[in-house]
Amino acid sequence: MGGAVRTHVRHPASDGEAEIATVSPSPAVRRGRFLALEGGEGAGKSTQAERLADDLRRLGHEVVVTREPGATTVGAALRQLLLDPDAQLTDRTEALLYAADRAEHVARVVRPALEHGAVVITDRYVDSSVAYQGYGRGLDPAIVLQLSRWATGDLVPDLTVLLDLPVADGLARARARGRLAGAPTDRIEAETRAFFERIRAGFRQLHDTAPERYALIDAAADPDEVAAAVRHAVQQVLAGDGEVLSA
Ligand SMILES: Nc1ncnc2c1ncn2[C@@H]1O[C@H](COP(=O)(O)OP(=O)(O)OP(=O)(O)O)[C@@H](O)[C@H]1O
Ligand SMILES: [Mg+2]
Repeated sequence: MGGAVRTHVRHPASDGEAEIATVSPSPAVRRGRFLALEGGEGAGKSTQAERLADDLRRLGHEVVVTREPGATTVGAALRQLLLDPDAQLTDRTEALLYAADRAEHVARVVRPALEHGAVVITDRYVDSSVAYQGYGRGLDPAIVLQLSRWATGDLVPDLTVLLDLPVADGLARARARGRLAGAPTDRIEAETRAFFERIRAGFRQLHDTAPERYALIDAAADPDEVAAAVRHAVQQVLAGDGEVLSA
């Protein structure tokens, strides 16, 4: 996968018959750098997105912090639907709605910011769909990935920071923070644990298929240590542009 996206376009011929031409869309200008933060519930994505943004801004970078789902007007409506426990979405519907949110996000927020030269930090991206809807829900991960690639026009982050944390630790953090509130029954707790174990394994699997595009970081360390590890990994990517990012 990857490479040029080829689009089939119908041109009406002069005699009224249609012919099919194959064209490549002009590649979008990309001047900024695109960073994704991924990981399970409570791994520290939002915490680290803000800390990284602060670090980069201090060094003079223009930074856009954004998140999925819900970073656009349409996305906010989709987020409400996606997070509504009464919505009763089928797994495929859920996957399609996340892809729709992502299409809006990339077209209206991420690409414009990259074209402007910003460092864009997104709190969740394609890997979350592959991990949750694919490995977690049991849809074919390859199809979930294909859907997101189509939705984004194949926009792949320069670096994906994967914050890896034992499931129990992430759930405990999320619960302490007020999400996943209440005392779940044993059955639901067991389901939750198995679901999130599949997601964690899915994220790690994604890392293993292309480790050069990832920074796999132990998210159990304290926030300062995690931030330093994230900064170090991002430094490699920005240094590749001839920029120097000092600690
Ligand atoms: N390294 C850390 N050590 C201990 N606690 C942390 C650490 N990083 C974040 N936390 C705390 O854990 C909770 C979850 O962190 P955060 O909201 O950043 O995670 P998240 O990955 O964005 O979660 P979600 O997937 O639910 O959005 C917060 O209360 C945060 O203060
Ligand atoms: Mg968060």
